[in-house]
Amino acid sequence: MTTMISATAANDIFQRRESQVRSYCRSFPAIFAGARGPWLIDEDGREYLDFLCVAGAANYGHNDPPIKAAVVEYLATDGPIASLDLHTSAKQAFLRSFENRILAPRGLDHRVQFTGPTGTNAVEAALKLARKVTGRSTILAFTNGYHGMSLGALAATGNALARSGAGIPLGYTSFAAFDGYGGRDDSLADLVRRLDDPSSGLDLPAAAIVETVQGEGGCNAASWDWLRGLAEILRQRGILLIIDDVQAGCGRTGTFFSFEPAGITPDFIVLSKSIGGLGLPMSLLLMRPELDLWQPGEHNGTFRGNNLAFVAAQAALEHYWRDGAFAAGVQARGDIVRARLERIAARYPSLAYTGRGLLAGLRCQDPSRAAAISRAAWGLQLIIERCGPRDEVVKTMPPLNIPISALHDGLDRLERAIAAV
Ligand SMILES: Cc1ncc(COP(=O)(O)O)c(C=O)c1O
Repeated sequence: MTTMISATAANDIFQRRESQVRSYCRSFPAIFAGARGPWLIDEDGREYLDFLCVAGAANYGHNDPPIKAAVVEYLATDGPIASLDLHTSAKQAFLRSFENRILAPRGLDHRVQFTGPTGTNAVEAALKLARKVTGRSTILAFTNGYHGMSLGALAATGNALARSGAGIPLGYTSFAAFDGYGGRDDSLADLVRRLDDPSSGLDLPAAAIVETVQGEGGCNAASWDWLRGLAEILRQRGILLIIDDVQAGCGRTGTFFSFEPAGITPDFIVLSKSIGGLGLPMSLLLMRPELDLWQPGEHNGTFRGNNLAFVAAQAALEHYWRDGAFAAGVQARGDIVRARLERIAARYPSLAYTGRGLLAGLRCQDPSRAAAISRAAWGLQLIIERCGPRDEVVKTMPPLNIPISALHDGLDRLERAIAAV
């Protein structure tokens, strides 16, 4: 009781002063003062296992020592912190590492655009450039897709609550069924029919924007065949392919880019969240070189030069992506999560595994069950969020380098939470 009263009093300034728009803090109402690896620590020293990881912006865990050391060292040198799009040593080093560790080994010759530091701004850049390059206005998006909260990205987002915040009609977007939507497997055939029928009402889109695993939309994973099929349908019709890898990329599903196993080459790739290494804001739009038709300054932004993020990102690439060992570790952890969640689902028939790698979860037939599980997990000091159209999926997003014992610890807590509800 004493703890509850003091927590309420301590939270008072947030309730009085912070906008109603706040959301995560309502589910996890502690005041966090420390963060190390997979742990968040509140002001009273209580430790919580973090299976939310800043929605994927802390893929290497909190304050990962080699990344933090690089940032601390850089701060001590009085290097530039913010630099618009000026050339800096930190940016040069990042670009070299990104080329050497990520792009060249994968045979990608994409150019790199540093956008404003949010995922949604990089999505906006992709949509704008696709429209400019093709001269067409419509974007093809997919059911349950999530691309951000600014108006262009929001127009390509399915979620009704998010869309209702726009306050104006969200246009120039058509929606098609994502792989498996509604339990059906004919989404690509339907798309082809509508694209090729001059009377279907579907304008030829400039681009299609798609996630390989829909992170907010319910951990829905597209099959490799579906992605290959989609890429081919688009290629044949001159429609550009934008892979939104903001959440599924940077290793989360077991490879640096989530689409790698499909063997496709997107025209545009959007990266954000943990590309900045330590949770520092940074977003990128990668584009095939011939699509780089921007005029200088045509998609500008003050905070495109976050040098601390460049330093952290470079440290992360050099530390974790020099060879395949880190990705293999993510895949092994993903296998553990899958095996354990499937075992739980076998015991509780109203639950089902969904997702890929470390972007996976349990779909609950009853959304209120998912809410109760997340609440019970919080009581066990496990931070675990929900996603999906009705928040019906309990979503596991641990750090990619979480020690195996901590991973099992978190999954044990989740299992106890499920048993409790
Ligand atoms: C797939 C995807 N795209 C875009 C965004 C938007 O990123 P941000 O919240 O940084 O604007 C998100 C955020 O969760 C996302 O998951």
